[in-house]
Amino acid sequence: MTSQPKRLRRCQLAVPGSSEKMMAKAAALEVDHVFLDLEDAVAPSAKVGARGQIVEALNSLDFGRSVRCVRINDLDTHYAYDDIIAVVEGAGANLDTILVPKVRSACDVRFVDRLLTQIEGKLGLKRRIGIEVLIEEAEAIMRVEEIAGASGRLEALIFGMGDYSASQGIDPRAIAGDCGYPGDIWHYARYKMIVAARSFGLDAVDGPFVNFRDGDWFRTECVRARQLGAVGKWAIHPSQVAIAQEAFSPSQAEVDRAYKAVAAYAEAQKQGLGAIQVDGQMVDVATVRLVQRVIDQAELAGIKPSAGV
Ligand code: COA
Ligand code: MG
Repeated sequence: MTSQPKRLRRCQLAVPGSSEKMMAKAAALEVDHVFLDLEDAVAPSAKVGARGQIVEALNSLDFGRSVRCVRINDLDTHYAYDDIIAVVEGAGANLDTILVPKVRSACDVRFVDRLLTQIEGKLGLKRRIGIEVLIEEAEAIMRVEEIAGASGRLEALIFGMGDYSASQGIDPRAIAGDCGYPGDIWHYARYKMIVAARSFGLDAVDGPFVNFRDGDWFRTECVRARQLGAVGKWAIHPSQVAIAQEAFSPSQAEVDRAYKAVAAYAEAQKQGLGAIQVDGQMVDVATVRLVQRVIDQAELAGIKPSAGV
C-alpha cells in the first residue's frame, strides 16, 4: 500500500526535457501533472545535457499547482542512475515524483526506492519523493501485482500502449487504431494493470494518444479508461490537456447524486434501514461504496456539491 500523498492526475503532460521552450510553456499551463522527459522525447546526444536543463527548469520555473515529475531513462541503460542522482541532487526540493519507464519486476522499483532513500538522507530532504512506473513490457503485465506492491513510495501505474505493443508483438497498425482487431486490443493489459493499481491504493493512468489533432477520438479514449477505473491519461500536446481534465472529472450531476445517496443512506441507517430508494433507485451499502469514488475525485478536484444537496 502506498504511503504517499494523493495527487490529481487527470492529465499528465509529457514535455521533452531538452526543450526549454516547452518546459516554460508547460509550467504556465493549468495542468494536474507535468513530467519532464529524459527518455524517448530526448535524443541520445541530448540526454546528458537535458539533465541540467531539467534541474534549471525545476529550480527556476513556477509550476503552480502541477505535480512536478521527471521521467528517467530505462534501468537497463547506463543513463538511469545518473539521471536520478543529477535530478534529485540538483532539484530534489522542487520535485514530487520520479517516473520509471519499462519496469520489469519489483526489483526495479526497489532499486529506485533505495537510491532515493540514500540521496534524500544525504541532502536532508523533508518530503519523500514518490515513484510512478510505466507498465509497458509483457513481463510487467505478467508481474504487475508484485510491482504494484514493491514500495510505499509508489503512487501510480501507467499503461504505456506503444512500448507494450512492441513488447508483446502486437500488430504495429494497432497504435493508429486500424489493425482490424475487434474491440479494444489492449483491454486485457489495461484491465489487469488497473486491478493491480486499485488493489494497492495506487492511481491507474492511461498512456498517450499520438493522433493529437483528433480531440474527439482522444476524448473517447479518456472516457473508456475512466470507465475501467483509471484516474487520468497522458497528454503529449497542450491541446489534449483540457479534454483529459474534463473527461476525468465527475460532472456536477454525478457529484450531487453521490452526495445525495450518501446522505440518504446515513439517515436510513439511523432508522435501522439497510436499503432505501433515492430518486427511483435502490441505495444500499454497496451503492455508497461505488459512489465514494466520485466523492473522492470531486474532493481532490475541488468540486463541491450544489447548494441544498
Ligand atoms: N509541452 C509543452 N509545450 C508543447 C508541447 C508539450 N508537450 N507540445 C507542443 N508544445 C507547444 C509548442 O512548442 C508550440 O508552442 P508555440 O505556440 O509557443 O510555438 C505550441 O505548443 C503548439 O505546438 P504545435 O506547433 O501544434 O506542435 P509542435 O509541432 O511544436 O510539436 C510534438 C508537436 C508532437 C513534437 C510535441 O507536441 C511534443 O514534443 N510532444 C511531446 C512528445 C513527448 O514527450 N513524447 C514522449 C512521451 S509519449
Ligand atoms: Mg515507453
